[in-house]
Amino acid sequence: MRLHDKAKAILRQNDQGGYTLPTFGLYPYQWNWDSAFAAWGFTTFDPDRGWRELETLFSGQWDDGMLPHILFHRIDPGYFPGPEVWQGRGPIPSSGITQPPVAASFMAKMLVMHPDGKTRARALWKKLKAWHAWFMEWRLDQGAVCVTHPWEAGRDNAPDWDSAMRTIDVTGIGEYTRRDTSHVDPSMRPTKYDYDRYLKLVQLGASVNWDQRELKKINPFRVADPTMTFTLLRANRDLRDMGQSFGEDVTQIENWIKTLEDGAKTLWNENIKGYDSRDAHTGAFNGVLSNASALCWYAGIDNAEARPAVERMMDAATYGLASFNPEADGFEPLRYWRGPTWPIMNFLVGSGMEEMGISDLADRIRTDTRHLMKLNGFAEYYDPLTGKPAGGDSFTWTAAVWLGWAGDFPKSERGVA
Ligand code: GLC
Repeated sequence: MRLHDKAKAILRQNDQGGYTLPTFGLYPYQWNWDSAFAAWGFTTFDPDRGWRELETLFSGQWDDGMLPHILFHRIDPGYFPGPEVWQGRGPIPSSGITQPPVAASFMAKMLVMHPDGKTRARALWKKLKAWHAWFMEWRLDQGAVCVTHPWEAGRDNAPDWDSAMRTIDVTGIGEYTRRDTSHVDPSMRPTKYDYDRYLKLVQLGASVNWDQRELKKINPFRVADPTMTFTLLRANRDLRDMGQSFGEDVTQIENWIKTLEDGAKTLWNENIKGYDSRDAHTGAFNGVLSNASALCWYAGIDNAEARPAVERMMDAATYGLASFNPEADGFEPLRYWRGPTWPIMNFLVGSGMEEMGISDLADRIRTDTRHLMKLNGFAEYYDPLTGKPAGGDSFTWTAAVWLGWAGDFPKSERGVA
């Protein structure tokens, strides 16, 4: 079967009718940013299904605008922590945290690929704006966007969170059974130390009914993060452009963009020559050079000073951009967000570079990503030194990245504007 057909087949297999699983077994629900990638992937061959994916995602939006990171449509005992632990308060059972807001940016791409979707896009636009407003109201630290749980950043066990995680007291979390390590080799997953803290943060959030004001007072974990800041900045630009074309007043969104542009500057860490995460409680940088720094171009920030460190990270790996600097202490090429290369991040980074005219690096990232998939299929992530596939397989968003960007076919078929 052609890889192109295999990628489509993965989306179809993981389709639950209106929403798509990231992969069977390991992730048996609808995940927020995975779903935005899935919507875009579907739109390359079945636009109606693409729009439906976003509509289902927004059916779980809370009345304060928050869009959950997981929607528990049908209970599956194969995943922990489930809805009874999260105690989300949305219209359908959900987690209580969010994920990187890439949905507006994928919707903008979908609209270019399928202009007939305009009526559906207009209805979603208002919901997207409410979600972005929620970030702007509750999550800023000096104009940069904070995460309140490592899972919110989508980079679950990245070294960025290590110091804030150390401040979490896990006394009294109780007994629990992890399910992820029964699906995937434990050496590729976060550790028990991490999981105890993930769970504690869920319990804290649930204890105040996910009230952001209360949570801000009691949560030891509040970290300003380049992933969130750059994806929201980019998403606001796309939201503004779509709003303008719909005849909406976009003044407020313009102001958000200015705030976030200033906020992004506060994440620049001269010591690592990159954009870094910062503990909002202490003000201290984490000193972590990751692939999130390279999202600046995706956010429309053309900072030539950010290039050398990113290029060096690429030179130190065989494939793509590692999730954590291969030259740093603690680099682990197979452990999730502490080293592996992730096609979805490669797409965000590479397409941002492409748009900003950094075509040599953009081509390199895209070619590497294509090779990984050709050699080793549509895995969750890959060892950046050997290309070995790791984590879950038949992964939805990896297949979507093939269909929309990395695949070996003409640009006109790639769903790129
Ligand atoms: C992991 C990833 C996260 C993703 C989820 C589902 O938690 O770190 O980014 O959304 O899996 O694929």
